[in-house]
Amino acid sequence: MKGIILAGGAGSRLYPLTLVASKQLQPVYDKPMVYYPLTTLVEGGIKELCLISTPHDLPRFKQLLGDGSRFGLTIDYREQEKPAGIAQAFLIAESFIGNDNVTLILGDNIFYGGDAFGRAFSEFKGGATIFGYHVNDPERYGVVEFDASGQAISIEEKPKHPKSNYAVPGLYIYDNEVLNIVRNQKPSARGELEITDVNVTYLKRGKLRVSRLPRGFAWLDAGTSSSLHEASAYVQTIEKRAGVKIGCPEEAAFRAGTLSLPQLNELTGKMPNCEYRDYLASVVAEANRLKNEK
Ligand code: DAU
Repeated sequence: MKGIILAGGAGSRLYPLTLVASKQLQPVYDKPMVYYPLTTLVEGGIKELCLISTPHDLPRFKQLLGDGSRFGLTIDYREQEKPAGIAQAFLIAESFIGNDNVTLILGDNIFYGGDAFGRAFSEFKGGATIFGYHVNDPERYGVVEFDASGQAISIEEKPKHPKSNYAVPGLYIYDNEVLNIVRNQKPSARGELEITDVNVTYLKRGKLRVSRLPRGFAWLDAGTSSSLHEASAYVQTIEKRAGVKIGCPEEAAFRAGTLSLPQLNELTGKMPNCEYRDYLASVVAEANRLKNEK
């Protein structure tokens, strides 16, 4: 399974924050926003990633994440000239995807809790898998409608009159057929290759699985100034209470087995003195303690 992080767009809703750094580089409490979707993919065991952003912002992402080896991954980078739609990501990353299945995650989507995605990656057998999450403002999202047996029967993008409260979060799993689908897709009235149209095509073919995320799961949106602030407050609350970090890709890579304990230890030692380093040092110490107890 290949992974794409889409981190472009104009970020106009966060102006003037986004005048010099794109939305996905803004801090969500103690880390850049893109660390959270990156961690979601790493936790799910995805090791080959491609990050797509604007020509202006791509160098910043390269500076931040490098070639991915720090996280036990490879990261390719691709430019999106203009924000011509989420589904355009597949065409931009075509040579990266090759003949594989692919997961796309939006760079401003923050998920926390459970292993729903990891399970979905390992159980994926073809077609498309997307998710449904209960929200009180579905009109802001792609909305999925279910029949009495729990089967998805329609998906609409930002409907004025939503048929359910189930929004489609920005994490999508597709087989390689997605490339053909997007190649033949026409831009919408707003001139974009819509991800919802891709999902509707899979639905019509009887190849779409929609998995409802459990109530205890958190999906946060960080696209406006107040939701960005709320996301930071949420992360701070959980981190303070539990003493664990959300969105820590180094730790996720270690727990997923893509980074060894000596590698994590070495990496931690190279960080400047800061709370993030202290946290990773505590992860290393705990892992050493458990190893020695065996
Ligand atoms: O967050 C989930 C929602 O994301 C879904 O429920 C919707 O179905 C889906 O269309 C999308 O809605 P948004 O209104 O959030 O889409 P937006 O145009 O804001 O783009 C989402 C992110 O993707 C944003 O961080 C910028 C990035 N993006 C977007 C477009 C259109 C790109 O990098 N390139 C693009 O061309």
